[in-house]
Amino acid sequence: MRHLISLFDITAAELTTIIDVSHQLKTLHATGKRPALLQGLVLAMLFEKPSLRTRVSFEAGMAQLGGTALFLGQEVGWQKRESTSDFTRVLAQYADFVVCRANKHASVQELASFDAVPVINGLTDLFHPCQALADLLTMQESTSEISGKQVTFVGDGNNVAKSLALACAMSGMRFRLLGPKAYFMSNSILQKISERYPQADISQTESVSEAMASADFVYTDVWTSMGQESESKQRELDFAPFQLNQSLMKHAPSGCKVLHCLPAHRGMEITDEVIDSRDSLVIQQAGNRMHAQKGLLIWLAIEQGLLSVRNLEQHGLKLTG
Ligand code: CP
Ligand code: NVA
Repeated sequence: MRHLISLFDITAAELTTIIDVSHQLKTLHATGKRPALLQGLVLAMLFEKPSLRTRVSFEAGMAQLGGTALFLGQEVGWQKRESTSDFTRVLAQYADFVVCRANKHASVQELASFDAVPVINGLTDLFHPCQALADLLTMQESTSEISGKQVTFVGDGNNVAKSLALACAMSGMRFRLLGPKAYFMSNSILQKISERYPQADISQTESVSEAMASADFVYTDVWTSMGQESESKQRELDFAPFQLNQSLMKHAPSGCKVLHCLPAHRGMEITDEVIDSRDSLVIQQAGNRMHAQKGLLIWLAIEQGLLSVRNLEQHGLKLTG
């Protein structure tokens, strides 16, 4: 059974297929076409943390594809009322997919461990793979060929940064992390990426000029992620020199695009001038959460035998890769 707990769960070719299907679905959507490819299918949604984009884009995406999304509240008692084994195997009787946003990465891994229903990670402390899918789609829309391009991520080596670094390695993009050394991504994750993708070009630096000089895309995220609130004062001090403002952007080539996964803390990690600038792609990027996840759901449905390639083709869509 296929899951998307992190981008390590799929191959580079599968990633390309998902982005390509997402792009095709987005093009259809723009012409008013919403093929009911997932009619009768159900996505169950388990969220331990707040969400606007992930929650609503999955719900809207399922609706547009003719399926149903069930947002499960606290009363279902995940991790409280019964064993996770019973919980997951029962959920699998009703739902065809589960998306889960959890405090701990291990909680999502545990859901997937029963192989009862395909599990999608909707963000954990370690990874945010659905965000990286939308990021790739957005960058691809902005430049004809992403391979060989550079993303400079300014800030914390967090869940978003790690998923993006891996997505870049899978897509032939350079990834630079710019921020205080104490918040760099761990050697173990870097090693895992380079073992799987020996050509990966990832480095981390505290040097603004080094990180920004060749950036095609500059990306930032909050300094304090959900669950780290007790560290926020220290983080504000540590990250202040790395605020994405006009003076930092001057180190990047002109035309360099700006990305942020949102929600943004304006005036902290990014200024209004930068996030609202002509080069900012952030609203398009947020919109692409839905298109990218529609592509992911279609790919998963085909993998699970819930949808045929023929059915896809009948709607004018092609499965490449
Ligand atoms: N970027 C993102 O995941 O946003 P939400 O927390 O609103 O889902
Ligand atoms: N790094 C942030 C991303 C929010 C979408 C967090 O985990 O809170």
